[in-house]
Amino acid sequence: MTTVLVTGGAGFVGAHICKALAARGDRPVVFDNLSAGHEHAVRWGPLVRGDIRSAPDLDRAFAEHRPDAVIHFAANIEVGEGQRLPLRFWDNNVAGVVSLLAAMERAGVAPLVFSSTCAVYGEPDSVPITESESLKPVSVYGRTKLAVEQLLADVASVGGVRYAALRYFNAAGASPDGEIGEEHDPETHLIPNALKAAAGIGGRMKLFGTDYDTRDGTCIRDYVHVMDLADAHLAALDLLLSGTRALTANLGTGHGASVLEVLRAVESVTGLAPPYDVHPRRDGDAPILSADLTHARAVLGFEPKRSDIETIITDAWRFHKRAWGV
Ligand SMILES: NC(=O)c1ccc[n+]([C@@H]2O[C@H](COP(=O)([O-])OP(=O)(O)OC[C@H]3O[C@@H](n4cnc5c(N)ncnc54)[C@H](O)[C@@H]3O)[C@@H](O)[C@H]2O)c1
Repeated sequence: MTTVLVTGGAGFVGAHICKALAARGDRPVVFDNLSAGHEHAVRWGPLVRGDIRSAPDLDRAFAEHRPDAVIHFAANIEVGEGQRLPLRFWDNNVAGVVSLLAAMERAGVAPLVFSSTCAVYGEPDSVPITESESLKPVSVYGRTKLAVEQLLADVASVGGVRYAALRYFNAAGASPDGEIGEEHDPETHLIPNALKAAAGIGGRMKLFGTDYDTRDGTCIRDYVHVMDLADAHLAALDLLLSGTRALTANLGTGHGASVLEVLRAVESVTGLAPPYDVHPRRDGDAPILSADLTHARAVLGFEPKRSDIETIITDAWRFHKRAWGV
């Protein structure tokens, strides 16, 4: 049995990975300050309340639970907030990882799976995006994630950490049994907001831009089911535990859905059309972001199984219907 310290394990992606770890007999220990996560999502192991920027909090967790590895989700994630409060993002997302790596070194723990993001690419020169695409993030959020990738490479180069940087595209969906799902506040992601609007509890949707050079004029994004992400995390963890020193991989599907396609899929799954208003384009929204999966397939054996848009929305709706009581 492997014990894994899961920072941010009370959040959306982290909770699903904890469930997947427990399902194969591993022991997730959640380390979370509950600034954005939910205690009710911690169900598969203990919760250590603590902050990644606090050395005493981390030392206590490592001493008490003796993890073999760390999966690191804890971060500030809302892109707009990062633009307004860059210092908060650099402190939590970057200084937080310096603090975490130092604690891992003190505890003699080397394997670390890190939640990176397609935001490290900014507006790519070509799609689907390979890992060798130039890294030109256009947001504070993306820059903090890129800085952590560079930090990990530096520390790994002297043998201090063995890491996997997983660049997720748009994480979505929910546990197929409806037990846990996406509960951000504020929620900025398209699918839960479209479901909310369809259910009549979220007001009208804002659709930003219908004049992009895409098949229907709206932006295309690559939605990947959180359970498929879980499979990739387990594969990355196993590679690190068996000695892999560093890997970086995109996690998406290789094809995307446009905003209008998502809204239509929401209507076909729920039977309810999400009301929306069209607004002008937003700065910094690339027309198409989708992942080239060649590398993830080769190193992680990654093959998305639940990431078609209908399955993602069906699973998300099952969770939200119960959570919202609709
Ligand atoms: N959701 C996506 O589509 C997506 C896409 C790409 C990358 N990511 C990355 O995946 C990770 C998880 O995303 P999510 O959607 O689950 O976010 P989330 O906000 O649901 O979860 C983050 C968790 O980290 C905790 N946390 C934050 N700061 C902390 C700190 N200083 N100490 C301890 N705990 C702290 C929060 O309480 C929360 O439980 C993030 O690092 C995010 O950048 C997410």
